[in-house]
Amino acid sequence: MKLAIIGTGHVGLVSAVCFAEMGYEVTGIDSDSKKIEGLKKGIIPIYEEGLKELLDKNKQKLKFTTSIPEGIQEADIIFICVGTPPKTSGDADLSIIEDVVTQIASSMKSYKIIVEKSTVPVQTGKRVKQLMEMKLKGKVEFDIASNPEFLREAKAIYDSLHPDRIVIGVESERAKNLFIELYKPINAPLVITNIESAELIKHASNSFLAMKISFINAVSTVCELSGADIRKVAEGIGLDKRIGKDFLNAGIGFGGFCFPKDLKAFRRIASKLGYEFGLLEEVEKINEEMKIGFVDKIENALWNLKDKTIGILGLAFKPGTEDMRYAPSIDIISALQESGAKIRAYDPEAMEEAKGVLKDITYCKDAYDVAKDSDCLCIVTEWDEFKNMDLKKIKDLLRSPIIIDGRNIFEKEKIEKLGFKYKGIGIKQ
Ligand code: UGA
Repeated sequence: MKLAIIGTGHVGLVSAVCFAEMGYEVTGIDSDSKKIEGLKKGIIPIYEEGLKELLDKNKQKLKFTTSIPEGIQEADIIFICVGTPPKTSGDADLSIIEDVVTQIASSMKSYKIIVEKSTVPVQTGKRVKQLMEMKLKGKVEFDIASNPEFLREAKAIYDSLHPDRIVIGVESERAKNLFIELYKPINAPLVITNIESAELIKHASNSFLAMKISFINAVSTVCELSGADIRKVAEGIGLDKRIGKDFLNAGIGFGGFCFPKDLKAFRRIASKLGYEFGLLEEVEKINEEMKIGFVDKIENALWNLKDKTIGILGLAFKPGTEDMRYAPSIDIISALQESGAKIRAYDPEAMEEAKGVLKDITYCKDAYDVAKDSDCLCIVTEWDEFKNMDLKKIKDLLRSPIIIDGRNIFEKEKIEKLGFKYKGIGIKQ
């Protein structure tokens, strides 16, 4: 079986490389010629652990091109992995999908399955099918399918090759059988359903996970007000198998290019269909409040922020990635700057990305450089190297020994013994 993957971003590139690892011949297609030229030479445009090695290992099975008509001809299955960014209204912008489908339809000469792998609102498949029928030249058979991706950045290869489940939305036996064949090398339950259900599973999964985070963050606020400790509360809740312990880490909220935009898009499509999903509005509201609350904690610790220097450790939306999209650090740093504070910051991977988004910052070479002459140190992304810092050295470098920990990476009792003033999330203040 031969595959074409349109879009070589996080989802597309990882999928291409993993399908090659599963034994398939894969053509990766992207309109960005710089990216494609790089990929042909084995240059990976994103930071994802293990991806370069896996690409090199499977380079014989991988081709890259900028041309959709050229790249899709031999493929049995075409995966659409292009971006679906948010419009100002919150709706998913599906114009790139429309453009890609138009190009597929105008050049396709034999049967293929056209698969939505990008996250799309429910009923997008219907539109894709209508567009295919309108734009196809001559009588060529095709199927539409939805096969959403559940990989996490920084764990993308593991998630692709060891998924909890594979969701397949199809309309024909022919497409269903091709998918069963495609995923034979992977040991995971298959959820085979119609296209609408598959599309909805993706939005509902991301929204549920975001809801879990906002739930624990809301509980963390009650913990602070009552003297309870969120880490123990989360442990106590999470050991109930029906709830599960994952995604119960309280902190400054979720970011990234998935949860924030998918929540909005899910609310919008539900509303268009006639249901106001107020629960998800609250999830977003709590997420915003966590960032505001973090800035308040800093202000509380330092009194006036004007002309104070705040040290920020971590800028990426989570560890293991250079991705700054919707990173909580952006709103937090902007709010601090608006209050007149100066920022020293460091991230192990996201410095270059951050420079494009966050201005007037002193970018530092490591955590110690950040601590030097800062009035407090704030943990914004929980990279391992921050967990293992020499805290005695940090204390000597700081103007005042204050740590505000937005990801609860330290134990309050231990850190206070070292002479720090410490504030975490959902921990007695
Ligand atoms: C998320 C989903 O986890 C994937 O299943 C999905 O495929 C992907 O979106 C997508 O739709 O493409 P990702 O955005 O890479 O993956 O990141 P996550 O690991 O889910 O983390 C998202 C955010 O939640 C991060 O900002 C993280 O710091 C935050 N988070 C996560 C918490 O604040 N607390 C937690 O307990 C877990």
